[in-house]
Amino acid sequence: MNDKMDTSWETSSSWYDKLVGSKGHYYHQQLIIPGVLNLLEKEKKPGTHILDLACGQGVLARHLPKGIKYLGIDASASLIDSAKAYQIKGQHQFFLHDLSHPLSLPFQDFTHATCILAVQNFSNPLPLFKIAHAHLRQGSPFIMVLNHPCFRIPRQSSWGIDQQKQWQYRRIDRYMSPLKIPIQTNPGQEASETTFSFHFPLSHYSQLLKQAGFVIDSMEEWCSDKKSIGKAAQMENKSRKEFPLFLTLVARKL
Ligand SMILES: C[S@@+](CC[C@H](N)C(=O)[O-])C[C@H]1O[C@@H](n2cnc3c(N)ncnc32)[C@H](O)[C@@H]1O
Repeated sequence: MNDKMDTSWETSSSWYDKLVGSKGHYYHQQLIIPGVLNLLEKEKKPGTHILDLACGQGVLARHLPKGIKYLGIDASASLIDSAKAYQIKGQHQFFLHDLSHPLSLPFQDFTHATCILAVQNFSNPLPLFKIAHAHLRQGSPFIMVLNHPCFRIPRQSSWGIDQQKQWQYRRIDRYMSPLKIPIQTNPGQEASETTFSFHFPLSHYSQLLKQAGFVIDSMEEWCSDKKSIGKAAQMENKSRKEFPLFLTLVARKL
């Protein structure tokens, strides 16, 4: 796939900034931020210094315990400006860079790297993984939260109902083929902007992580905590617990 395209969310930045706000969107608040903080706590290290790749408008930074050193990088100038504007005392650093191109930072000894809901915005995630590897201490974790690549493939996965079994199933139309999928950020509106999601099967991510010098240490799968009401509620609530929304990979620098 084309490695040269601009995948930043600059043209969708004002919509995304409003959606996320200061605290995060629904799933940031309910699942993602608590899950990432839990993993960071389990991986606690002296002198914690976090490198947040494709940080957007810096939602993770605003949930970190006081005193944690943090550097967020993103390719959208407006989201980086917004991240800086949210800061009260300038305790975190933010930096504009397209992470599909090599980067050399003054620090090569971050204790943790994170990439939240953004790996799938890269047409080729290998340069991103290499940047994480180059700037982490040996043995340190790289925590990535992905829209689950096995169950949530935009335009290629959907819910269906088996009337006989009274069961809501997940239908997957394509999985092994790499895909470039346009996403309308504001589907209801005429002038909706487009971002792209790049789909790869899970094995592809594990191969690229290995190539960049990581091993996958653990995985977590997080299901939606929403509850349906109405006639189909029981069926929907059951199936929601069967198919996770997010896959979290903890890779470790060898
Ligand atoms: C869904 S947003 C997630 C942002 C943030 N991590 C969060 O959870 O709110 C995806 C982010 O990836 C960034 N991005 C996409 N391609 C990028 C690239 N090549 N280099 C750096 N950032 C990129 C976008 O600008 C956008 O901020």
